[in-house]
Amino acid sequence: MALLKVNHAVAEIAGSQVLRQVSIDIAAGETLALIGRNGAGKTSLLRVIMGALPLVHGSVEFNGRDIAMLPAHDRVGLGIGYAPEERRLIGKFTVRENILLPAWAGRLGRAEIQERLELIDFVAPELKDLSARLGGLLSGGQQKMVALGRALMAGKHMVLLDEPFQGLAPALALKYADMLRALRDARPDLAVLVTESNPQLLQPMADRMIVLERGEIQVEAMEKAIV
Ligand SMILES: Nc1ncnc2c1ncn2[C@@H]1O[C@H](COP(=O)(O)OP(=O)(O)OP(=O)(O)O)[C@@H](O)[C@H]1O
Ligand SMILES: [Mg+2]
Repeated sequence: MALLKVNHAVAEIAGSQVLRQVSIDIAAGETLALIGRNGAGKTSLLRVIMGALPLVHGSVEFNGRDIAMLPAHDRVGLGIGYAPEERRLIGKFTVRENILLPAWAGRLGRAEIQERLELIDFVAPELKDLSARLGGLLSGGQQKMVALGRALMAGKHMVLLDEPFQGLAPALALKYADMLRALRDARPDLAVLVTESNPQLLQPMADRMIVLERGEIQVEAMEKAIV
């Protein structure tokens, strides 16, 4: 059964449609790659899932429950972690505080926080050395790692990673790919939705690929990307 289902999603920004009848589903344990060029609608789809962009038409179901009308702040407890494209760390908070933010917002219990911190240590051990540094004083690549850690704190069931490889130097991109593999090993039941403009990059780690173009899913492009 699908953990998340987006059905015929239509969304608009400034009066123009950025998602046109987009339907996707993702099961627990699946890694789904969402591929599309700049402006294709990848971020818009993730924002719809998080409740940051309203639907004009369509529905979003999570664990069999329709959440389309659920405001963003009420989605905190659903267990969906989000690492936005532009990271959005709080510059005056330390790395550790940035990672703990969703735990405070979601009122996670001590044991759950501890379990999530252990997962983050396993997936991204480099974050340990950075934990006392201020978010605003990190490099872009380091911030991406913190954003992953923060998403894992919130992501009990699923994480949404928006172009995590964008702008990473090759060595750091390899490291990030290793982290995703470590995450797969440690949390085989987690659903991972990751976006990218280049299909080659995610091919080795994705179970399935979906191609978006101008707000629409492109079935033909998907078949090409798979062969
Ligand atoms: N704040 C905004 N104001 C106006 N139009 C916007 C805004 N944000 C996005 N759009 C438009 O919405 C469409 C979808 O954008 P979206 O950010 O979802 O694409 P994307 O696939 O994430 O692109 P990228 O690879 O550049 O991140 C684009 O046509 C974009 O120009
Ligand atoms: Mg985007």
